[in-house]
Amino acid sequence: MKILGIETSCDETAASVVEDGQKIISNAVASSLPIHAQTGGVIPETAAREQVKSMIPVLQEALADTSPEELSAIAVTYGPGLIGSLLVGVETAKALSLAWEKPLIPINHLVGHFYSAFLQRETSPTFPILALIVSGGHTELLLAKDHGDFKYLGGTRDDAAGEAFDKVARLLKLSYPGGPAIDKASVDGASTKINFPRPLLDSKDWDFSFSGLKTAARREIENHPEIAVEDFAASFQEAVVDVLLAKSQKAYKQFGAKSFVLGGGVAANSLLRKKASEIFDRSLFVSAPNLSIDNAAMIASAAFFNFKPIPRQKVKADPGLQID
Ligand code: KG4
Ligand code: ZN
Repeated sequence: MKILGIETSCDETAASVVEDGQKIISNAVASSLPIHAQTGGVIPETAAREQVKSMIPVLQEALADTSPEELSAIAVTYGPGLIGSLLVGVETAKALSLAWEKPLIPINHLVGHFYSAFLQRETSPTFPILALIVSGGHTELLLAKDHGDFKYLGGTRDDAAGEAFDKVARLLKLSYPGGPAIDKASVDGASTKINFPRPLLDSKDWDFSFSGLKTAARREIENHPEIAVEDFAASFQEAVVDVLLAKSQKAYKQFGAKSFVLGGGVAANSLLRKKASEIFDRSLFVSAPNLSIDNAAMIASAAFFNFKPIPRQKVKADPGLQID
């Protein structure tokens, strides 16, 4: 079964055809990142305008080797995300579903990130699955007992992990987006140079907090301008990764999970991947970095495993969509 996925929740315009939830037939992504790099952050209006321009070429690329007749459904991200951006994808998906008479399956973007771990592999994670979804907008711990049975355990109370990377990179005058820049700079740095706080490490819930780290980073830069950017980046990265994995490991044990899924843009971080693989070994399921960041293949995969078409007129973009 082939499904066309469409994803436009932030700055990407993406379309992909996936067979049986795991095999990627095509994966087209256009990003307005270079434009946002100039301003150091995503400007919603600009992102949506670029998506309107990119949607048709991206669809054409994704459908180069697949005719509409071969598709069993159209899947689209309907939230959470930027409203203007979401509308581009949702309205396009509705129009295609009407024109081609295909069922329409709305997908939660975070659930999409979860399914990135199912793509392009022979073995799937085993339920119950603990998932850490870390991106520029989200830091969530989810427990999946089965397909479609997701429970929100906890998440960030303030900044998302990716957001913290982006903000601290800005303080260090590194390029945008900050995550990859800090990751790269850390390679030549000593993580023991600054002992950053590990916020909420021992709290009794599954929440995270990263805004304090950003404040601590600002203070350190002011007080110790002599510290090398590489050492600074490595110390900060270590603190974020420590907290993310300590809580994940605790939740994994407490809920008797059998697999650990790592998803979202920050899952591309090399230290996070390395340490997660040391802790979880063969129970770790993380996609290649290009499928960890926003893409439409994960949306098509989510729709295959959660095949619940909704009447087209009922599908609406929901910027604040949550997992219960
Ligand atoms: O999932 P994503 O592409 O978009 C959102 O849904 O937010 O995630 C983007 C975020 C950005 O904050 C970016 O800095 C971060 O993921 N990121 C990284 C790395 N690559 C991307 N953070 C740390 N290390 C990386 N290598
Ligand atoms: Zn995302």
